[in-house]
Amino acid sequence: MNKRAEFQAGLEQSAFWMPYTANRQFKKAPRLLARAEGMHYWTPEGRQILDGCAGLWCVNAGHCRPKIVEAVQRQVAAMDFAPTFQMGHPIAFEFAERLAKVAPPGFSRIFYTNSGSEAADTALKIALAYHRARGEGHRFRLIGRERGYHGVNFGGMAVGGLQANKKTFGPGVAGVDHTRHTHDPARNAFSRGQPAHGAEFAEELERLCALHDPSTIAAVIVEPVAGSAGVLVPPQGYLQRLREICTKHGILLIYDEVITGFGRLGQPFGSQRFGVLPDLFTTAKGLTNGTVPMGAVFVKDAIYEAFMQGAEGIELFHGYTYSGHPLACAAGIGTLDTYEDEGLLTRAASLEKYWEDAAHSLKSAPHVIDIRNCGLVAAIELEPRAGAPGKRAYEAFVKTFEQGVLVRYTGDILALSPPLIIEKQQIDRLFDCVREVLQTVA
Ligand SMILES: Cc1ncc(COP(=O)(O)O)c(C=O)c1O
Repeated sequence: MNKRAEFQAGLEQSAFWMPYTANRQFKKAPRLLARAEGMHYWTPEGRQILDGCAGLWCVNAGHCRPKIVEAVQRQVAAMDFAPTFQMGHPIAFEFAERLAKVAPPGFSRIFYTNSGSEAADTALKIALAYHRARGEGHRFRLIGRERGYHGVNFGGMAVGGLQANKKTFGPGVAGVDHTRHTHDPARNAFSRGQPAHGAEFAEELERLCALHDPSTIAAVIVEPVAGSAGVLVPPQGYLQRLREICTKHGILLIYDEVITGFGRLGQPFGSQRFGVLPDLFTTAKGLTNGTVPMGAVFVKDAIYEAFMQGAEGIELFHGYTYSGHPLACAAGIGTLDTYEDEGLLTRAASLEKYWEDAAHSLKSAPHVIDIRNCGLVAAIELEPRAGAPGKRAYEAFVKTFEQGVLVRYTGDILALSPPLIIEKQQIDRLFDCVREVLQTVA
């Protein structure tokens, strides 16, 4: 047995408990990636794979971009780690300044985390502590949305609305409720961009306000476009209405921009794409182009200022050992440089029509029951097999990989979100591959 065959044979007993993976199934027939550059991965055997999902929605500038690689290499040699509790290092401050400049006006305070999950929990904690700092500690409720995904920590899991992510982990956080999701295929199937119907789903928040009394509600958290639930684009007018209701009742609106941030929707952030600003928003993934794990919460100045009143001392008892890790900050600065050099924070806008047409050209492909798109994101929803939900999309995912294309699947939905450097012929290749594969998944 050669070394590679030996490695694959050993995988079945591997010590690596893989996340969000059917471990036994995967280890019998692994799909391995060994190298990456630009729009592509390569398998250990040297097979080229077109990256149709930016790794995991995170490699917005494409893989192994020189400015990012060099920045991390320089930083690791100069200073590997330094604490940010009652200490600081210049690069953490520098990166925050740079981030504040790409954020919508007024979001000039940045709290670093190490992931999207930590960003979600951090944003929820900031919301609770903000109200308390202003003498409104009675606001303790957190409202999420069905089919929302805010990571896997207890706060994000609680406000999240995906049953499979919650059902095995006990009662979770108290004082949480959910509004209805916005998916309405009966009225909106095959919408291009924002669906026409469903602004009224935001009124659900008024119902929860009436039920709980709005003075008990601290924050509402939603993804501008729900990604992990299968790309649910907000209906026209929905976010506007949500904003109005939050403002009316003094409730903070948190956007989870872990996927929609950093150019995915054709604007730097989803809030700019939809023209509706939150009070705080979370990011991760594209923040460092996925190169070094990092998340960040962007906070409105007025919220930060509310913490800076009163006696001097630690204003927020929260933080992670690796908040503002030097390697992550270096990767982030290299990422922002790359985005700026190549106009990547708005490039999706110029490709969106082409992307949309390519996605919707699959309308007549076998098993397709809906197609959704926004920016450089698309979902192809398949009719589930009778008695075997998820199996058809899984098979399509495996087959596209065998044909040299990486996509995501969730339930019976194929999700595509390539690096923002994608070219038109690569868009064609992506959807042609999915089209061909759909002919073969009975
Ligand atoms: C909207 C959203 N929030 C939070 C997360 C969690 O991020 P992480 O996996 O970095 O913890 C994700 C991950 O996909 C996400 O899509």
